[in-house]
Amino acid sequence: MKLSIVTYPDKVLKQKSEDVEKFDEDLHQLLDGMYALMMNANGVGLAAIQVAIAKRVLILNIPDEEEEQHGENLIEMVNPIISSKKGNTIYQEGCLSVPDFYEDIDRYEFISVNFQDRDGNTKRLEADGLLAIAIQHELDHLDGVLFIDKLSYARRKKFEKEYKRMLKEKKNSKK
Ligand code: CO
Repeated sequence: MKLSIVTYPDKVLKQKSEDVEKFDEDLHQLLDGMYALMMNANGVGLAAIQVAIAKRVLILNIPDEEEEQHGENLIEMVNPIISSKKGNTIYQEGCLSVPDFYEDIDRYEFISVNFQDRDGNTKRLEADGLLAIAIQHELDHLDGVLFIDKLSYARRKKFEKEYKRMLKEKKNSKK
């Protein structure tokens, strides 16, 4: 499966994703393709809508203390739902769909997530730290929400200005 990452301001990213009903070969190919793409882009998480597929699918691979990612730490979540949440934490987030921008975002510190694996088995995960933050970030994607949507009005305006300038520079350097 040939996939590529959609970037802001593509409207696809605002789309709300739909529940997965078939746990078939197409789903497995999507998950495998997303994983290859995410690792290639040095990402920590990726939602299916970021490859223009509006399905409630996300993957995560949190790096270890040495900032290295290991295949066995891959988490695949299909139809995830946060069932409980508590505490608050702030972390400087980035996103493969909003390249080169990082902003402090408020999240819950602890969450429990119910989800299905690639074969449709029901799972539950308790998460804190970077994993909890990354799950919330990716889950927002499934509802068409980007981390920049959580910025204050003033910070968002500043972001839009800087992002536009960056897109222009990228375009010019390609000429
Ligand atoms: Co993202």
